[in-house]
Amino acid sequence: MGLSSILVLLSALLPTYALDNGVGRLPVLGYNSWNAFQCNIDEDLYLTTAQLMKSLGLQDAGYNYVNIDDCYAEKNRSADGFIVADKVRFKNGMKNLTDKIHDLGFKTGIYSDSGWFTCAGYPGSYQNELRDLTTFQEWGFDYLKYDNCAIPFDDIIREGIMGKYQRMTDAIAQLAKSSGQPPILFSLCEWGISQVWLWGKTMGQSWRTTGDIAPQWDSLANIINFNSFITQSTDFFGRNDMDMLQLGNGNLTFDEAKSHFTAWALMKSPLLIGTDLTTITNETIEVLTNREIIAINQDSVFGQSITPFRWGIGPDWVSNSSFPAQYWSGPSENGTVFMLLNTLNEPSTMFFNLTESPWIRAGRQYSVRDLWAHTDNGTAIRNFTAEAVPPHGVIALLLKDAGDEPDGLLPLCAQPIEGQCTDKNGTHVS
Ligand SMILES: *[C@@H]1O[C@H](CO)[C@@H](O)[C@H](O)[C@H]1NC(C)=O
Ligand SMILES: *[C@@H]1O[C@H](CO)[C@@H](O)[C@H](O)[C@H]1NC(C)=O
Ligand SMILES: *[C@@H]1O[C@H](CO)[C@@H](O)[C@H](O)[C@H]1NC(C)=O
Ligand SMILES: *[C@@H]1O[C@H](CO)[C@@H](O)[C@H](O)[C@H]1NC(C)=O
Ligand SMILES: *[C@@H]1O[C@H](CO)[C@@H](O)[C@H](O)[C@H]1NC(C)=O
Ligand SMILES: *[C@@H]1O[C@H](CO)[C@@H](O)[C@H](O)[C@H]1NC(C)=O
Ligand SMILES: *[C@@H]1O[C@H](CO)[C@@H](O)[C@H](O)[C@H]1NC(C)=O
Ligand SMILES: *[C@@H]1O[C@H](CO)[C@@H](O)[C@H](O)[C@H]1NC(C)=O
Ligand SMILES: *[C@@H]1O[C@H](CO)[C@@H](O)[C@H](O)[C@H]1NC(C)=O
Ligand SMILES: *[C@@H]1O[C@H](CO)[C@@H](O)[C@H](O)[C@H]1NC(C)=O
Repeated sequence: MGLSSILVLLSALLPTYALDNGVGRLPVLGYNSWNAFQCNIDEDLYLTTAQLMKSLGLQDAGYNYVNIDDCYAEKNRSADGFIVADKVRFKNGMKNLTDKIHDLGFKTGIYSDSGWFTCAGYPGSYQNELRDLTTFQEWGFDYLKYDNCAIPFDDIIREGIMGKYQRMTDAIAQLAKSSGQPPILFSLCEWGISQVWLWGKTMGQSWRTTGDIAPQWDSLANIINFNSFITQSTDFFGRNDMDMLQLGNGNLTFDEAKSHFTAWALMKSPLLIGTDLTTITNETIEVLTNREIIAINQDSVFGQSITPFRWGIGPDWVSNSSFPAQYWSGPSENGTVFMLLNTLNEPSTMFFNLTESPWIRAGRQYSVRDLWAHTDNGTAIRNFTAEAVPPHGVIALLLKDAGDEPDGLLPLCAQPIEGQCTDKNGTHVS
């Protein structure tokens, strides 16, 4: 048996939990209208948005989805049971709109709900999964966000939230098979109430882990804290969705906006812009188009999220929704990524030993790239200090192996497990 057939056999025997159906290997980058517009939507908004995504350079930076959220439908299904697009807001019909969005080089997403109604009271897809999905595909949509409102009674549903979502997963597989088209990319909006991070990856390409984000620091801190404990769920084809990007909305400072974007991108969340593009500032565009950080979100070699290696001001592995973990790292194609988050309300100096990160090799030195300053910041030997990190600010670094560290550094073991630094002759060294 050749090596390749052994590998094929092995991969068939090893359990693969992620739903690799060919779509959504990497996080989606795009736009969603909900946070800026709620129900004040129509076809012109999406066309204007798509055109602005181009002219503002967002499409060039990788944002290639324009997604519709709730409130696009008539309140009632048609007499024969189909969802009908709002005849005033989408007067030329959905297919006309998706054709135009596709012509501008974007993919496009639609929204529905796993219960009787959407969260704003429009038709939900419960018991109409395949029918509605077929409508969405005929309308030209590539992506479905699926909400969790208006849950049917237990004596009808006879299953949990997981089963309610499975119904649409099955419809997606069935429609892909019968139509020969790629599966619709499935974004579960389950809010994390049924531990979706344990099962979402068998159903779709992303799953919301919390309730809705708000454009203020306490909401960001809460979402970062919550997700810091479930980072292992994220990898290729399935990931924790930390909700829309709120840059430029509300009262986030520039430093808070950078922290928001960095955490979402490096934790490999989908990156869906939730800002009104007609009034977006250059500063916000600058944050959203940080190509070095987007490259890590879109890393094709490593799909993992960054994970905290030290909580910092609080004890390790203890939840604190106002003061999330401060010291994070993860692997990437070009080296180890670090995120230092100053959760305090005052500037602070942030220090770490390199080997606190599991991705760093002891006895080596590392070149340092600052992913916000876009500068090479010399070589780190054993440790790194970031001076005066602003309140709620962030440092994002890429450390690349730069060979053996200089000879003669002490201590002899940079990562001492108490009493275990040992000479070949058996002598423990302190
Ligand atoms: C929508 O359906 C409800 C319930 O069947 C009905 O009462 C209502 O008149 C319908 N509305 C329209 C605009 O058709
Ligand atoms: C969309 O509808 C408009 C108005 O009816 C029409 O002029 C246009 O050709 C349609 N475009 C597409 C792409 O179908
Ligand atoms: C931002 O807005 C929220 C909600 O209105 C408020 O609670 C918070 O104090 C504000 N923060 C600042 C720094 O103004
Ligand atoms: C924003 O950037 C654009 C394009 O670079 C430039 O033309 C415009 O003057 C800038 N606006 C402000 C307020 O700086
Ligand atoms: C790695 O570096 C190459 C060359 O600069 C770049 O094209 C690529 O996007 C980087 N990958 C990541 C994940 O940062
Ligand atoms: C969260 O951390 C802050 C700052 O260290 C501390 O004052 C607060 O008591 C902590 N809250 C909880 C719930 O542990
Ligand atoms: C960093 O390493 C030094 C020297 O080994 C050690 O004394 C210190 O406790 C370490 N600090 C942290 C935060 O790991
Ligand atoms: C990296 O160097 C740049 C340019 O000197 C500087 O602005 C930035 O603060 C440095 N980054 C860190 C984390 O020290
Ligand atoms: C950081 O590492 C350097 C060696 O590069 C060492 O001299 C220094 O003591 C270390 N700092 C701390 C606080 O461990
Ligand atoms: C054993 O190792 C210790 C620590 O490196 C050293 O001080 C000592 O001389 C060594 N003993 C012998 C017999 O080599």
